[in-house]
Amino acid sequence: MTDPVSDVSTPPTVAPAPEMATGNAAVEIRDVSKWFGEVTALDNVSFEIGRGEFFSLLGPSGCGKTTLLRMIGGFETPSEGQILIDGVDTAGAPPYARSTNMIFQHLALFPHMSVHDNVAFGLKMKRIEDNIVEQKVHQALELVRLEGYGGRKIDQLSGGQKQRVAMARALINDPSVLLLDEPLGALDLQLRLQMQDELRRLHKSLGNTFIFVTHDQGEAMAMSDRIAVMDQGHILQIGTPEDIYEAPRTRFVADFVGHTNVFDGRVSQIDDNGECLVVCGGLTFRCIAPTGLAVEQPVSIAVRFEDVTLDGTLGSADGTGCSATVTEKMYLGGMFRFETRTAEGVALTSDVTNSDAARLVAEGDTVNLAWRPTNVSVLLE
Ligand SMILES: Nc1ncnc2c1ncn2[C@@H]1O[C@H](COP(=O)(O)OP(=O)(O)OP(=O)(O)O)[C@@H](O)[C@H]1O
Ligand SMILES: [Mg+2]
Repeated sequence: MTDPVSDVSTPPTVAPAPEMATGNAAVEIRDVSKWFGEVTALDNVSFEIGRGEFFSLLGPSGCGKTTLLRMIGGFETPSEGQILIDGVDTAGAPPYARSTNMIFQHLALFPHMSVHDNVAFGLKMKRIEDNIVEQKVHQALELVRLEGYGGRKIDQLSGGQKQRVAMARALINDPSVLLLDEPLGALDLQLRLQMQDELRRLHKSLGNTFIFVTHDQGEAMAMSDRIAVMDQGHILQIGTPEDIYEAPRTRFVADFVGHTNVFDGRVSQIDDNGECLVVCGGLTFRCIAPTGLAVEQPVSIAVRFEDVTLDGTLGSADGTGCSATVTEKMYLGGMFRFETRTAEGVALTSDVTNSDAARLVAEGDTVNLAWRPTNVSVLLE
């Protein structure tokens, strides 16, 4: 496999036509694969990230998020395919020659150096004049609300403050694309939520493109304009948080994003009104039929916990409900979670916001569960 960075025979990058460079994509990933020996870290991935977008890569450990980010930043070379930044092919361009900057999964700050020197490091390496460095360090620390911390050593800071230093260091060059690899991963929940707010504020005020890696679906939902859900080197679905949450296209996405009942089943009927019936282990679900669906086709269906209501009218005959016994009731603060089991042995979970009716239901009770066909997703893969 040739490596475009070290392969001297690679022709120089051809300057793109101006109309390409002024296009709306900040980053274009074209047919990119990456192999580490036998391991396929990314398998023929293509997509675009718009200028100024807050774009998240979401997926489980080992799915290829860091590898993709490192290739955009120039720390890793694609085995195949192209990455364009602002319309220009990046092949052969080292990290410092790209309009990107990266916050690494493990912050990579210099622990014994001061906050000031950590933030100034990149500019000093570029031999920028001292007074300009001072001005930029001051601005960057102000941006992340660490004014007055310049003299502190890194190992005298809290986790959240270290994150801010890493952000200031990445922002000091005003990169057009900021690459953030699980920047909040090591923080406790309280601080994590606070830093999510800070990041959103920074993104709004700076207007740069943010590419944010996380394995936390709630975080991706809360922060992003669009999300790419990844698994095993593939991108399974790209969309707005609403798209991904409400219309997952695969079983993996439905399972990974949100709290969802997922069942394997078989299509038993397709109606003229665009609805269909899917039978899953003795329970029938009425759903909106995707185009091209056939009777007898094996599919999975997904219905979110909060879309299964507890006190709805019983409609098991037409596939919009069933009766079940509560096996476990949990109080989750703003709502109750009921785990139930039907007479056929199908386990269904229902999240119900606090109401007097929900309060009265106890473990062992028989309840009527109901759902709307529009809330049941048919998953073809
Ligand atoms: N330098 C490397 N050499 C060999 N294999 C690698 C290397 N870097 C990554 N991999 C493999 O490539 C795959 C993707 O790794 P990557 O670090 O991109 O995952 P990730 O999605 O960032 O995971 P995490 O959430 O744990 O950080 C994994 O199977 C990993 O073991
Ligand atoms: Mg990673």
